[in-house]
Amino acid sequence: MTTQARDTSALSGFYKLSHSARLERLSGVFALSDDQISLLRKESSLPHHLSDLFVENSLGHFSLPLGLVTNLQINGNDYAVPFAVEESSVIAAASNAAKWVRQSGGFKAEVLSSLMIGQVQILDLDAAAISAASTTILAHKEELLLKANQVHPRLLLRGGGVRDIEVRAFAEAEIPFLVVHILMDTREAMGANLVNTVCESLAPEIQDLIGGRVGLRILSNYADRRLFKASCRIDPELLTLKDSDSPLSGAQVAQRIVEAYVFAKYDPYRATTHNKGIMNGVDPVVIATGNDWRAVEAGVHAFAARSGRYESLSRWWIDPVGFLNGELTLPLQLGTVGGVTRLHPLAQLSLQILGNPSADRLGLIAASTGLASNLAALRALTTTGIQAGHMKLHAKNVALAAGATGAEIEIVAAEMVRSKKISASEAENLLASRLIAAIPKNASVSRDARLP
Ligand code: MEV
Repeated sequence: MTTQARDTSALSGFYKLSHSARLERLSGVFALSDDQISLLRKESSLPHHLSDLFVENSLGHFSLPLGLVTNLQINGNDYAVPFAVEESSVIAAASNAAKWVRQSGGFKAEVLSSLMIGQVQILDLDAAAISAASTTILAHKEELLLKANQVHPRLLLRGGGVRDIEVRAFAEAEIPFLVVHILMDTREAMGANLVNTVCESLAPEIQDLIGGRVGLRILSNYADRRLFKASCRIDPELLTLKDSDSPLSGAQVAQRIVEAYVFAKYDPYRATTHNKGIMNGVDPVVIATGNDWRAVEAGVHAFAARSGRYESLSRWWIDPVGFLNGELTLPLQLGTVGGVTRLHPLAQLSLQILGNPSADRLGLIAASTGLASNLAALRALTTTGIQAGHMKLHAKNVALAAGATGAEIEIVAAEMVRSKKISASEAENLLASRLIAAIPKNASVSRDARLP
C-alpha cells in the first residue's frame, strides 16, 4: 500500500483536455504501453471529432464486426441487412432462416401503431383530487393538444405531432400521483428529444389546470404504441434435417419448433433465452443504424411481460395444411434521422444499404430479422443442438485466442470441430503438435462457406 493514493478515478480536469493530452495522461496514470495508446489514437470509421461530440472524456473506439444478413424478403421487397454484432453464427443463422422464409414467399410485416409516449407525473394530490384532476384533464384535452402541438411546428409540417392525451391514476400508491400520457407521432425520429420537450412544455399548463406539483417529465421507453408485426409461413420440407445421424422430416422439425415455443410461452426462464435469440436479430440492426439499443431492449422486455408474466415474444403454430407459421410483435422505437444516425458514417452507410428506409420500414426490417433469428435458433435447438453450428464458428475465435495465425486458424478450428473438442487447451495442444508445425506459414486453406 502506498501512503499517497494515486489519482486513478477523479482525474480532475480530464474532460477539458484535448484528445492527445487525454491519452498522454491516461498512459501515465494507468501505465498503458505505446501500442495500447496507439489503439486509442487510431482514427476509425468514426472520426475522433465526432466521438468527442457524442460523449464526454472520449478515448477511442470500441469496434464490433459489421456483417450482412442476406436473403431477407419482406412484403415482396428484398433487403440485405447490416448487422453490427460480435457473436459467432448470428449472421449465418439469420441469413439461413431468411432463405427458408424467402423460399416460402417471404416475410409479411406491418406497422400496428406508430406513437411514442411521454409521461408527466403530478404529485401532491390526494385520492379525491386525483379523480377530479383526471376528469378535468380529459375535459381540456383539445386545448392541451393545441398547446402541445405548438411546441414543434416543423414536426406538424412533416405530418407528425401530438395525437392524444391520456390519464393514469395511482391514488393507492404510498405517495399518490397522477400521470398524464402524451401520445406523439415523431415520424422519422426515434423521438426522445421531441417527446421530452413537449412533456416539459406542457407540464406547467397541466399544473395550472389541476394544481399539485409537477414531478418527472420524460418519454416512456415502454413503447407499446409503436408496434411492428412480422410473420412468416414456411413449407416444412425446407426444414427437413437430412445429413444427420438422426434425420428428421420437415413436419417433425416444425412440430418440435412449436413445442419449443410452448416451453417459452409458459416458462419465463426459457422465455428470457428465447427472447434473447429474437434480440440477436434485432439489436444488430439497431446498432448498425445508430439507434438506441438500450431503449429498444428495455421496451421489448417490458412488452414481453405485459400479461403480468414474462412470455415469449413470438408465436409458432402449424396450420391445417402442415405449414409452420410464425409471428412476432415488437415495440421498436427507431429513427432514421437525428443524432448518431445522421452523423455516424457507418450508420449512414447501413441505412443506404437498406435503401434509406423510413423509421417505420426500419421497424419492419428489425421485426423480420428478429423472427428469422428466432426461427434459426429454434430449428438448431430442436434438432442438432445449438453448439454444433455455434462452436464451428466459435472454434476459429478459440484458435486465434490460443495464438494460431494465418492458415493455422482454419486447420486448428477444423480439427477441434472434427474431434468435438473445442477448447483453449485443445487449440494449444494442436498448435504444439507436429500436424500444425508441418504447415508452412504462408499456406492458404479454403474457408468454410459460412453463408448459404
Ligand atoms: C444464443 O445467442 C441464443 C439462443 O440461446 C436463443 C434460444 O435459446 O432460443 C440460442
